[in-house]
Amino acid sequence: MALLEIKDLHIALNDGSEIVKGIDLKVESGEVHAIMGPNGSGKSTLAQALMGHPAYRISSGDVLLDGASLLALGPDERAQKGLFLAFQYPYAIPGVTVTSFLRSAMNALRKARAGGEDDPIPIPEFRKQLAAATERLKVPRELLGRYLNDGFSGGEKKRVEILQLALLHPRLAVLDETDSGLDIDALKTIAGGVSDLVGPEMGAVVITHYQRILNYIRPDYVHVFAGGRFVAEGGPELAEQLESEGYDAYLPEAPSGAS
Ligand SMILES: Nc1ncnc2c1ncn2[C@@H]1O[C@H](COP(=O)(O)OP(=O)(O)OP(=O)(O)O)[C@@H](O)[C@H]1O
Ligand SMILES: [Mg+2]
Repeated sequence: MALLEIKDLHIALNDGSEIVKGIDLKVESGEVHAIMGPNGSGKSTLAQALMGHPAYRISSGDVLLDGASLLALGPDERAQKGLFLAFQYPYAIPGVTVTSFLRSAMNALRKARAGGEDDPIPIPEFRKQLAAATERLKVPRELLGRYLNDGFSGGEKKRVEILQLALLHPRLAVLDETDSGLDIDALKTIAGGVSDLVGPEMGAVVITHYQRILNYIRPDYVHVFAGGRFVAEGGPELAEQLESEGYDAYLPEAPSGAS
């Protein structure tokens, strides 16, 4: 049984317009799948709809995690089942510090796993895990006491997304352009941190525009996503080819005379 299975998935906006037009994907534990495609092709729509974002409607198809459909579940329940999304544009939550956000998220998962009984992580254990993850991912400790993403730089937001990933131990991590905004050193550190987490316990879907992150999170498969569909699939070499040649070969031909 695949860790994640997407079957003939169609996703529409609430006004009915279809963005994702029938896709299939299987991800096993330990696998990394990269999704690359032009701006506006529907990559983030797919990522957010997988997580249960209310702006998107699954018009047909199914999404299974460990063999069970996610579609009737809310985003919190999907997270409890082991789905994780690192946002392309992380939200700020003024008033909630990074530390208290992380602890609440961990405790919510622990509670769900304990059958609804409170099972808060002991503070010393939380501190230990947080210190290890911040060190591994080189997250400045000063960020931990600030309000989540409030006034954070682009790169700081992306680091904190991956800090969440490291502490929450999902089954399947979807990273939506985590590389954009990261400087060169941070990209190595953060991508290396994600790569360490991929294994028997976790698979990953990495949405990106650039081949560079894939040097550090080696993909088993690269999928080209254009016009709401997967239009090509290959290995890591496909990412290199896209970087040098672009998407022209995968797009409908421009009308003649168009510049
Ligand atoms: N909530 C929404 N309301 C209106 N239009 C939307 C909404 N969400 C997505 N769209 C539209 O759907 C299309 C796909 O958007 P999406 O963000 O999924 O693209 P993307 O592939 O992630 O692009 P990028 O590479 O620029 O991040 C775009 O035309 C976008 O404007
Ligand atoms: Mg996007």
